[in-house]
Parts: sequence; C-alpha cells; structure tokens
Amino acid sequence: MRYSSVTPAGKSIVLVGMMGAGKSSVGACLRQRTGLGLLDTDEIVASKFGMPIPEIFAEHGEKKFREAETEALRRVRTEEQTIIITGGGIVLRKENVEILKSQAAIVWLDGDEETLFARASRKQNRPLLQTKNPRKTFSQILGARRPLYANIANIRVDTSVLTDEEVAVAILAKLRRMNPKPESPRPG
Ligand code: S3P
Repeated sequence: MRYSSVTPAGKSIVLVGMMGAGKSSVGACLRQRTGLGLLDTDEIVASKFGMPIPEIFAEHGEKKFREAETEALRRVRTEEQTIIITGGGIVLRKENVEILKSQAAIVWLDGDEETLFARASRKQNRPLLQTKNPRKTFSQILGARRPLYANIANIRVDTSVLTDEEVAVAILAKLRRMNPKPESPRPG
C-alpha cells in the first residue's frame, strides 16, 4: 500500500539508534510497506570513499567518517518524503540533529542492551567494537548515547522481542497516531 502522507506534514522518516537496533532491515520493511524512497547515510559515505566503513575508519579515521556523514545528511535534504537510515553515531553532532529535526519524524529503534550487543557483534563490521573488550565498549557507547537518542526522538520502539516486520508495523501505527488525517489508511 502506498501511503499518501505517512508522517505529519509529509516529513521524511529517519531511523536512529544504536548499532544492532535493526535500522537497515526495518528500513527495508518500511520501504516495502510504504513505497517511499530510501537513503542510508552509511551507504552514501561508503560509496563516497569507495570502500566499506571499517576501511574508512582504518585508513582515514573516525573524524573523516563523521565529516562525510554530516555532508551526506546535508545532501539528503529532500522535498520528497523519504526513509532515511542513519549510522548509530549520527546523534553525536549538533548539526546532524538540527538537520534531522527540521525535516523528519525521528524514530528511535531501541532494545535491551544484551540483544543489541548480540546483534551488533554478529558481523565483524563495526569498527568501534574492535577493542579488547567489545562488550564493555558497547555498554559505554550505549550509556552515552541513550540520552541523545531520547532527546531527539519523536517515537521510540523497543525492538528486543519484535521481528523487523513487527517493528515496521509499530512505527507506522505510531506515525498515524501523530498524523490523524482523514485520508490516512487507518486514521486515529
Ligand atoms: C557507528 C555505527 C555504524 C557506522 C559506523 C559508526 C556508530 O552504523 O555508521 O560504524 O558510531 O555507532 P550502524 O549503526 O548501522 O552499525
């Protein structure tokens, strides 16, 4: 089904949250359900550098990655309602937060720490977790970021015990409650 306006004022939908929250897979479900376009800041940055994210961190450092991430966000300002998937660290820069707040309904995919860590460490593609004690590192990063996600989010969904499809359904239901327009598929 194509939604005429999924969010208040036809804003984009941005997915934020910690590594392992399921932003990419939930974003794909949302695209399927809404027919909206999809942008992924990690993919934009990787294609700019022509290499995967772990190599960007290794060869150019986190600072260059963060600069490119902000640059990617500046460019995704779009008139079209779009699903925007972000990297877990997008909330670290004030400029990023301002861009996102101005053009998107912000959805925070959260979860319990153990579940998030288990998912995040399934693949060895998270440079920030390449430490002696990845579990401890994860805990520290999550502790520092949770208040930032909470501060920016319009909607929070606990993904711990939900499938990606269930998370997508929950997001759309919450967005509809923010947006009780008569032409919405199931208003109210
Ligand atoms: C990062 C998360 C990653 C990626 C980069 C940095 C972070 O994206 O942007 O490795 O700072 O949390 P995911 O959240 O998709 O893993």
